[in-house]
This record gives sequence, structure tokens and C-alpha cells, in this order.
Amino acid sequence: MVKPGSDMEAAVHCLQNGELIGIPTETVYGLAANALNAEAVAKIFSAKNRPFFDPLIVHIHDISEANKYVQSMPDKARKLAEAFWPGPLTLVLPKKEIIPDLVTAGHETVGIRVPSHPVCLGLLKQLDFPLAAPSANPFGYVSPTTAQHVADQLGDKTCYILDGGACRVGVESTIIGFPQGEPVVYRLGGIAVEQITAVIGPVAEQISSGSNPSAPGQLDVHYSPRCKVILDSGQPISDTPETAYLRYTEPLRGIEAKRQLILSSEKNLEQAAVNLFAMLRQLDHAGYHCIVAELVPETGLGRAINDRLRRAAAK
Ligand code: TXA
Ligand code: MG
Repeated sequence: MVKPGSDMEAAVHCLQNGELIGIPTETVYGLAANALNAEAVAKIFSAKNRPFFDPLIVHIHDISEANKYVQSMPDKARKLAEAFWPGPLTLVLPKKEIIPDLVTAGHETVGIRVPSHPVCLGLLKQLDFPLAAPSANPFGYVSPTTAQHVADQLGDKTCYILDGGACRVGVESTIIGFPQGEPVVYRLGGIAVEQITAVIGPVAEQISSGSNPSAPGQLDVHYSPRCKVILDSGQPISDTPETAYLRYTEPLRGIEAKRQLILSSEKNLEQAAVNLFAMLRQLDHAGYHCIVAELVPETGLGRAINDRLRRAAAK
């Protein structure tokens, strides 16, 4: 079993040998491999039990690297990259030949981003290849936000896990494509739609779900703990000792405190995002049969949080 640590040399060595490592990013931990090595990338799919139709995001250390891997960047893509990179934004752009088809699931486009986590950036700068990295969780399960989460679930499938502490954002990157040259939001994430529109004006949204979505990461089953998740509709539900509650700011009255976790008692959506996956995981591991989750305000990062909660409940 691999123990997480801060040995950068070990991490580089594993990647150069075509092995997988766990990497910290500001959003969630990733399961990384050399994005230009199809054999190494194939290991990601088998380690995660991930279907080959679900493409991976390619991580680079600077915007100037992007032209090695993408054919072109529409003006609005460039504006967004300049505004939000390094940061939790993925741009889906026409790929160059050098990116293996396996990375993009056969699509002519590649999802690319510059993460802002200093450990991740430090690693990327030492490599002469970019990193393909999905979230480091078994397919369909809650994304990891600490190195220990990665060790618990994929420790035996990694050559090393770089520990960069708890993730600062807590939900995955916002994904934007340009299918007709104009921006379309494919996945709600760490950059709020309001921030996007402040830079490039109104954007279309295609937050698809279902079994064959245009942004395949948007499958309904994503982000699910093993136990059942129910969205709190405000109607009374039959409470049992096996029921846990994930609340936004305040516990429910009349229910034991130990069965309730609070995303942000300060009513802060950034803080709620940071806590979301770790708390779902905590309640799941505590053995509850069911988690009743309260939706948060549908604004800013709240939209990405609610998207994850709805998908967790869709299982
Ligand atoms: O924050 C994040 O984005 C994290 C960290 C590790 O960077 N990564 C992440 O990867 O969330 P993953 O594999 O869990 O989600 C990748 C999703 C795919 O499921 C798909 O929705 C979208 O990115 N994607 C990637 N390439 C695409 C493409 N060419 N066209 C459309 N969607 C794409
Ligand atoms: Mg994922």
C-alpha cells in the first residue's frame, strides 16, 4: 500500500516510467499519467474502472503550453484562460495529433486546464509531458479531496501519491466547450457561471445528464456514495437511527447532532464546496443507510454543489 508523501522525485520517476500517481489539485485529487503515453493512460481507465467513452482532462503548467496540444483557441477561450488559469476551469478545444485518442475517448477535442495547486504546478514544471488526470476515485464514486482518500480507494493502483493537503476548492473544474465557436458550459464547477459571464458575456449551458451525454462526465450516477442519498424536499421523512443529514447551515431540530453534518455554519458556499465530498464520504463510511441532503442556494458555487447532490441522489 502506497503512503502519501511529498517526495517529488519519486512522483516524477513513476510518471516517467508510465505509472500512475495521485496528485493534488485545487479542486479534487487526480489520478495522473503521462498524457502522451497511451499505455500509461490506459492504466487510468482500468484502475478507476472507467468506461473508455469518458474522456480525460489534460493538465499543463502554463497557458503558453496549450498550443502544443490544441489547434486553436477562440478569442473567448483565450480570455477565459487568461482570466482563470491557473485555476478550476477546463477548456474543451480541437486537439492536435500528439494527444492520443484514448485520452479524448475518440473525440476531436481535448479538455485542457492549468491547475493552481502549487505542488501540482511544481510537478508539471519538472515534466516534459502533460498529465492526463481524472478525479482519483473509482468510477461513479465521490471525488477525493485529501491524499488519504486516494490512498484508501486507489492506493494499491498507484505508484505514488503526492500529498498537497486538503483541496482548497472541493468541487471539480468548470468545463466549457466551443462546439460552434461559441462558449457552452458542459459542467458546473469551481468557477461560477457568474464569473464566466463577467468576462465573456452570456454563455449557453448544456449540463447534460443521461447515458450518452455530450460531456460524458455528466452521467447521473456520478458523485454517489454507496449509501442512498435523498434530497430534502422540506416534507417530513421517516427518520431512523440509520438516517444521516447533510445540512447547509443549521442542524434540524429534534434530531441527534451526531447524525448531522453542516456544510457551512457561516452560510459560505466556498466553504460548503470544500466540505461537500469529504462529508458525503464521512457519512457513507459511518455506515448510515441513507443521507438526507439539503440543497444550497442556487447561486455561485451553489449551482455546482447542487448539481453534485442531485447526481448523488439520482443513483
Ligand atoms: O477539477 C477537475 O477537473 C479534476 C481535476 C483532477 O483536474 N478532474 C476531473 O476529471 O474532474 P474527471 O475525469 O472526473 O472529469 C472529466 C470530464 C469528463 O467526464 C468529461 O465530462 C469532460 O471532463 N471532458 C473531458 N474531455 C472532454 C472532451 N473532449 N469533450 C467533452 N467533455 C470532455
Ligand atoms: Mg470525476
